[in-house]
Amino acid sequence: MTTAADYSEKIPNNVGLHEDRRLQRALESWQPDFLSWWGSMGPALPTQDVYLRTAVNVGREGWAHFAHVPMPEYRWGIFLAERDPGRRIGFGEHKGEPAWQKVPGEYRSALQRLIVVQGDTEPASVEQQRNLGATAPSLYDLRNLFQVNVEEGRHLWAMVYLLHAYFGREGREEAAELLRRNSGSADAPRILGAFNEETPDWLSFFMFTYFTDRDGKYQLGTLKESGFDPLSRTCEFMLKEEAHHMFVGTTGVDRVVERAAQLMTEHDTDEVAARGGIPLSVIQKYLNFHYSVSLDLFGGETSTNVANYYTAGLKGRWNEPRRTDDHKLTSESIMVDTVTGDGEIGQSEVAALTGLNTDLRREYVADCQTGVNRWNRILDSAGIDFRLRLPHVAFNRKVGAFAGIEATPSGELLRTEEWERRQGSWLPTEVDKTHVRSLMRPVHERGKIAAWIAPPRNGINGKPFDYEYVHFP
Ligand SMILES: [Fe+2]
Ligand SMILES: [Fe+2]
Repeated sequence: MTTAADYSEKIPNNVGLHEDRRLQRALESWQPDFLSWWGSMGPALPTQDVYLRTAVNVGREGWAHFAHVPMPEYRWGIFLAERDPGRRIGFGEHKGEPAWQKVPGEYRSALQRLIVVQGDTEPASVEQQRNLGATAPSLYDLRNLFQVNVEEGRHLWAMVYLLHAYFGREGREEAAELLRRNSGSADAPRILGAFNEETPDWLSFFMFTYFTDRDGKYQLGTLKESGFDPLSRTCEFMLKEEAHHMFVGTTGVDRVVERAAQLMTEHDTDEVAARGGIPLSVIQKYLNFHYSVSLDLFGGETSTNVANYYTAGLKGRWNEPRRTDDHKLTSESIMVDTVTGDGEIGQSEVAALTGLNTDLRREYVADCQTGVNRWNRILDSAGIDFRLRLPHVAFNRKVGAFAGIEATPSGELLRTEEWERRQGSWLPTEVDKTHVRSLMRPVHERGKIAAWIAPPRNGINGKPFDYEYVHFP
């Protein structure tokens, strides 16, 4: 089994693609469709080349290579983490059996569905971020945007490989559909709600990479446990790339908060909008929005589908190997959020298997809190009292137990009329969005940065901030 990527092939890969001519031909015929999708739905800003990392190996050391590449010539490839020949299924009714190298017939449609839903999110985010290049606050940020975009494109390749290699004609049809659906399209939208929202400005982009890419991390984490070994190995490698996307979000918000704090201190005022910054109250509203739509991505509090996926060994829990229970959960229970008979926010006890979405969402919520703490430390060290916070899980939800109610960010129930009247103090209003958009002017000059955001502490791959990360035609 090879781990080094073969770049002599049309499609770089470490799966020995040349040994399977049929599969190779099928993927090579999908490739031009991918490239034409990239051309029409990918980054709109014309560039000559971009300082990008490309995966060259999946091993622990030195998996990435950095160089200036023209984006359409980026070598999207198929990379699976190294195979562990002794790997066994870690949970569910097949626990202890050898991991599957082929799709078990009885789980074929469920597995295909899981792969399609994951695969659909990858190109969706590229589409959502298509126009951001035109307003990048610096060359460093522009480069990071494009890095995220090419890697989401590669994640699409990762899922399309599985569909082509293991799911026959139906898989090939699904792979074609992944390029046909588009974010926000009226007749063929992306499958999940958050992936049909626009990403119109860079504050939204940073919030998206912090909150929504982090949802991706948790979904990939559950699929990494899958008994279907090729899916597990694919997701394991995707998680490595995903870490950078979340880094972009975490440090992006850091820098917006830092700049707001600087302006507040410098001018001794909260009114930083007039000084070219983004007010903390507006940052909080963007946070509220992106966090709540990302919570929806975890689905309902209870789900029999997910219970079945778990029992079948298709989709595990976050950190499954570190859990100390029996990894079958047939006799465990969990408290999940609910709206009680009197219409109050409460909890109820359900079988642990049906509450698995809740389990995953809670892991995610705890992780989200770490970023908020970090942003608050920036405020604290600037001597500012304002604190950012995650809104209550019932706030602005469209999926799950709280879909039918309205709640404030602190979790008080509201009548619909009151929600309508007050939501503008919790979610970005047209005025907020217009203001944020008005700050979005491109800074494409080397070493310069827009006034609404602080420069990063470090550049990419040891390069300085004023490195020429992007060349223009
Ligand atoms: Fe991704
Ligand atoms: Fe991502």
